[in-house]
Amino acid sequence: MERQKSFSFKPTRLLLFTFTIFSSIFFLSTFTIWLTKSTTTPSLHHQQTLLNFNTSTNNNNNSVELNLQPLTVLSLTQNFSVTKIQTLIDNRLSRSQKSFSESKSEDIEIEENHVVDTSISSVNFTAMHGNNGTKVEASGLVGKSDKVLIFKEIEVKKKKEIVKECDLRKGYWVFDESYPLYSRDSCPFIDEGFDCEGNGRLDRNYTKWRWQPQDCDLPRFNATKMLELIRGKRLVFVGDSINRNQWESMLCMLLSAVKDPKRVYEARGRKITKEKGNYSFRFLDYQCTVEYYVSHFLVHESKARVGQKRRPTLRIDAIDHGSSRWRGADILIFNTAHWWSHYKTKAGTYYFQEGTLVHPRLNVSTAFTKALTTWASWVDKRINLKKTQVFFRSSAPSHFRGGNWNSGGTCTEATHPLNETLNTIDPEKNIIIEETIKKMKTPVTLLNITSLSEFRIDGHPSIYGRKTQSSRIQDCSHWCLPGVPDTWNELLFFHLQSR
Ligand SMILES: *[C@@H]1O[C@H](CO)[C@@H](O)[C@H](O)[C@H]1NC(C)=O
Ligand SMILES: *[C@@H]1O[C@H](CO)[C@@H](O)[C@H](O)[C@H]1NC(C)=O
Ligand SMILES: *[C@@H]1O[C@H](CO)[C@@H](O)[C@H](O)[C@H]1NC(C)=O
Ligand SMILES: *[C@@H]1O[C@H](CO)[C@@H](O)[C@H](O)[C@H]1NC(C)=O
Ligand SMILES: *[C@@H]1O[C@H](CO)[C@@H](O)[C@H](O)[C@H]1NC(C)=O
Ligand SMILES: *[C@@H]1O[C@H](CO)[C@@H](O)[C@H](O)[C@H]1NC(C)=O
Ligand SMILES: *[C@@H]1O[C@H](CO)[C@@H](O)[C@H](O)[C@H]1NC(C)=O
Ligand SMILES: *[C@@H]1O[C@H](CO)[C@@H](O)[C@H](O)[C@H]1NC(C)=O
Ligand SMILES: *[C@@H]1O[C@H](CO)[C@@H](O)[C@H](O)[C@H]1NC(C)=O
Ligand SMILES: *[C@@H]1O[C@H](CO)[C@@H](O)[C@H](O)[C@H]1NC(C)=O
Ligand SMILES: *[C@@H]1O[C@H](CO)[C@@H](O)[C@H](O)[C@H]1NC(C)=O
Repeated sequence: MERQKSFSFKPTRLLLFTFTIFSSIFFLSTFTIWLTKSTTTPSLHHQQTLLNFNTSTNNNNNSVELNLQPLTVLSLTQNFSVTKIQTLIDNRLSRSQKSFSESKSEDIEIEENHVVDTSISSVNFTAMHGNNGTKVEASGLVGKSDKVLIFKEIEVKKKKEIVKECDLRKGYWVFDESYPLYSRDSCPFIDEGFDCEGNGRLDRNYTKWRWQPQDCDLPRFNATKMLELIRGKRLVFVGDSINRNQWESMLCMLLSAVKDPKRVYEARGRKITKEKGNYSFRFLDYQCTVEYYVSHFLVHESKARVGQKRRPTLRIDAIDHGSSRWRGADILIFNTAHWWSHYKTKAGTYYFQEGTLVHPRLNVSTAFTKALTTWASWVDKRINLKKTQVFFRSSAPSHFRGGNWNSGGTCTEATHPLNETLNTIDPEKNIIIEETIKKMKTPVTLLNITSLSEFRIDGHPSIYGRKTQSSRIQDCSHWCLPGVPDTWNELLFFHLQSR
């Protein structure tokens, strides 16, 4: 009985013993393997510390290379979001790498502004803007090492100012030898009416004035950048001959950045003349077109029977029939003003038409308001907000002295801009334009060039609007090219660029 007991007891013990031995061996071997593994292969945490930032400051294209050990190379160009790099680098950024970040380009400086803002909030500084926008002075409690950062903050502030606060309409003209932006000889698109130099005008000072806004700088027109902005797009000017003036200026300015002028041509081979108004210039290298469509009133010029006669009328309730060609444009610049004169609208007598009604008499201002409303509803209905940007250029001033255009008015004597302008009241048409735009669903940018152009009595063709100066009639309405419309296009460029 006892034997039986011990017998039965012994195997249980043995089992326990073997189990202990085996489990110990298993644990020991597992531990050894784990130990070996962890010494040959680093843990995930270790791998991250081996991430190697190789920043070479003298690399011309400013690329940052992140070397992931052992072989993966990740190359980030400037385009890569800087904030991402910063969170990645975070506190691993060493002092030597800081010097790299200070040498980065403008775009990146704006990002870094966030860092600057919080770190030096207690420092006073003043900024003084020179004419060329680079003269910046810093003062206040500025330590030597902080200086670079302060300067950056000022630059950034200035950029914001240009975008948000600066009133480009207020300023003055500065004589600048680096203008004009193109020469008469380099541009075959200037038609006779604007080709003052070609028609014998000798003084060139009128081409050398740069518009200087009071509180900021207007960026110099960069034709390459402009072409990049309109790559694959349609830039379309619609309006009267003054818009043709601006359109030709745009063609000339853009051409200055094209290496092979043969790669710029009119789509249907048309030559620019005063009479026709239907042009589309193709810039092959950028797959874009720069177009002009004449439309004196933006609404439809028609004819109607009044009594026994068929008379020319203006359908102030119908958009110009050429409007189908404006549609689909990516950037549209409209204008209308000069044709709404007493003379050209037959004093409003049996001229303005709505439906079948030809008004025996209608106030030109009232008619202008109605026509603009017609234009506005066309834009609101037909223009794709997502695709098209719409501009309206305000009226350009004329400078007839001692008479009107048809009664001996002149501007020949002027070789210098006016020092002050007499017209301080905005023309009624501009006010109507502004009121109309405000009511629209489509955001329309008003290119307000009226008061800056008021100064430029020297910019008109006067007697140099023709090759032969036989006529006594002077042109003090249009503008010589190169000349004042170049500045209007710099304003347009500014708006497109800062979008
Ligand atoms: C950084 O890049 C330079 C040039 O590409 C190379 O000579 C250098 O060895 C690199 N440094 C490291 C730590 O990888
Ligand atoms: C930019 O850097 C990369 C790599 O260092 C190089 O291959 C490329 O040619 C450089 N580009 C320019 C424009 O310098
Ligand atoms: C960088 O940006 C330019 C213009 O914004 C663009 O043309 C280019 O494709 C971008 N490059 C990369 C690598 O994203
Ligand atoms: C900073 O400027 C403000 C106002 O210009 C002035 O009141 C203040 O005393 C200045 N602070 C220092 C530390 O200069
Ligand atoms: C334009 O900026 C440069 C560089 O900062 C400066 O040396 C020069 O005096 C400035 N010119 C004018 C007219 O402000
Ligand atoms: C155009 O700018 C001038 C000058 O700042 C201003 O007096 C006028 O009211 C502006 N006109 C419109 C329609 O905005
Ligand atoms: C052109 O401008 C320069 C510089 O202001 C001046 O010296 C010169 O007399 C001007 N020429 C004419 C013809 O007005
Ligand atoms: C003009 O723009 C192009 C393209 O954006 C740029 O490469 C060039 O540096 C700019 N030129 C000037 C003078 O700013
Ligand atoms: C513009 O050209 C097109 C195509 O040649 C033609 O159909 C249209 O009538 C022209 N419009 C004007 C206003 O000349
Ligand atoms: C046109 O009508 C408006 C108001 O209806 C009036 O203020 C304005 O003086 C009129 N203009 C002319 C030229 O009669
Ligand atoms: C305008 O200023 C210029 C230069 O400051 C001067 O030569 C010219 O006589 C002035 N013109 C008038 C009309 O005051």
